[in-house]
Amino acid sequence: MFVIADAPLTRGPVTSYDPAMLRSLSSERVARYHRDGFLHPVLAMTADDAARQRTHLEAAQRSHPELMRGVAAQKLHVVTTWMADIIRTPAILDAVESLLGPNLLVWSSTLFVKKPDGKSFVSWHQDGNYWGLGNDEITTAWLAISPATAESGCMRMIPGSHKWGATAHMETFADDNLLSRGQVMQRDISEDAAVDLALKPGEFSLHHVNVAHASEPNRSTDSRIGIAIRYVTPAVKQNLEFRDSATLVRGADAIGNFELETRPDRDFHPDAMANLAKIVARREATMYRAGSGEIQN
Ligand code: NI
Repeated sequence: MFVIADAPLTRGPVTSYDPAMLRSLSSERVARYHRDGFLHPVLAMTADDAARQRTHLEAAQRSHPELMRGVAAQKLHVVTTWMADIIRTPAILDAVESLLGPNLLVWSSTLFVKKPDGKSFVSWHQDGNYWGLGNDEITTAWLAISPATAESGCMRMIPGSHKWGATAHMETFADDNLLSRGQVMQRDISEDAAVDLALKPGEFSLHHVNVAHASEPNRSTDSRIGIAIRYVTPAVKQNLEFRDSATLVRGADAIGNFELETRPDRDFHPDAMANLAKIVARREATMYRAGSGEIQN
């Protein structure tokens, strides 16, 4: 387990969670997350473990290419044991618990593979505008499975931009923009202010749902592979009109805003695949019709 206890526990700033109950992240790092809207790097697993997960992932890409895009790629933890393990990585849960408290659900676990084509990029955007989720008890843990560097097009973020609130986005549908609609924030962004969130395989970053972020093309020789795990508390509610689902990964859900998903005990079991098909159909019928499909990183 990755424990950082390098600073005395004090009454923290923004979080409603009692800092005396902090798990793994020091109060200094929690304060930095609330100040900047992001935090990195945090260690999730060894480079060897990340390499092993890459092997699983690449095998799934070969056997089930149809699951590697769209809504299905947000919910691989429902049909594969390795993604079910990744979203329950103790060091990630401990860090997220430091920010959101002891009761945690996973709303999605999205695979982001950026090929080394030197072209595909992601424009400046906020994630929160498109998900339908109320309440900001949401954080994303972005786990690197291959090196995320400035050269390979790691995420870039503007410190403090989560305090701008929801900003209008213009849909450009630009070629090579990995966002589903080429969304661009309607706000002047100073590239000089951006911070590169470089991560080694096995490390992750945490970011707020409203922080402004983007990424450049991958100019390295390897795919940039990451998994964006969206953690929410049971208090978060889906405001679009459909029964949304999530996986309880720590603590308890006494509220019931989400239909709870089942952990798979083997990969691609027909029952789990049928359940995934139902989840995909509900999300596609509502979120995507409402123009609120999940944004890429
Ligand atoms: Ni994003």
